[in-house]
Amino acid sequence: MNAIATDITQTEIDPLALRDVLGKYATGVTVVTTLGDNGAPVGLAANSFTSVSLDPPLILWSLALKAPSLGAFREHSSFVINIMCEESKDLVMNFSRPSTDKFAGVDWQPGLDGAPVLTAASATLECETVERISGGDHEIYIGRVRRISKSEKAPLLFHQGQFAQLGENL
Ligand SMILES: Cc1cc2nc3c(=O)[nH]c(=O)nc-3n(C[C@H](O)[C@H](O)[C@H](O)COP(=O)(O)O)c2cc1C
Repeated sequence: MNAIATDITQTEIDPLALRDVLGKYATGVTVVTTLGDNGAPVGLAANSFTSVSLDPPLILWSLALKAPSLGAFREHSSFVINIMCEESKDLVMNFSRPSTDKFAGVDWQPGLDGAPVLTAASATLECETVERISGGDHEIYIGRVRRISKSEKAPLLFHQGQFAQLGENL
């Protein structure tokens, strides 16, 4: 009886209410980049990034099926996770809406397979896509890390739909 009631509740979870609950989980913020048609840079803000495995070195992130950049990530087998610093909020906002001009005025260098490594990032992971998994209205990308870098810049955070910065260590 209880099990059936639980199932009914699960099918009725409202996507906006779910997003609100997930927003309680504070994250960092990344800009994930790759190369599109004609070698043009492509990128989007993403906080679905997480670690998977140290040995072998694997990470994952998920991409909305409706995102205009989906085709580029499907076709180009490498991407860069740019972990963003607290000064880069405006840059991240620029990468969080569709535009053909996201890289105008953005400083970057081509990574191992050409995908953009952003100068403003506090750390970067250059990855090769090893698996794409269907995940409801998103596609999960598992990447094998091929090169890493980091700086001392403080990270940008995201919590309850808002950008934030680190407070005191506990
Ligand atoms: C903080 C933050 C985190 C986001 N995380 C993701 C994510 O993990 N996956 C995703 O598909 N979109 C995410 N988005 C939304 C995309 O950045 C946005 O839809 C963007 O327009 C996608 O790029 P495109 O339109 O060039 O495809 C996030 C947006 C913000 C502001």
